[in-house]
Amino acid sequence: MYVCLCRGVTDGQIRQAVHDGVRTMRELRIELGVCSSCGRCGQHARELLEEAGTLSRPAWMQLDVADAPAAACDSRRQPA
Ligand code: FES
Repeated sequence: MYVCLCRGVTDGQIRQAVHDGVRTMRELRIELGVCSSCGRCGQHARELLEEAGTLSRPAWMQLDVADAPAAACDSRRQPA
């Protein structure tokens, strides 16, 4: 199933990336381009990472200046 329509990334590709060592949304964005355009895929991609048990830190701790384009994706998951 497609998770990121902008980049044509499937859930299988995300699971494979996790299997290959991807551990954060930033790494996933760098590796596959997920959440690097419109950001609509961010929540689903994060859920896939969480399912794999690899997302050990809160989203805000994973952001840095280089993550600015992905910040919109991550902000949807932060409490109001
Ligand atoms: S759907 Fe992934 S960046 Fe648009």
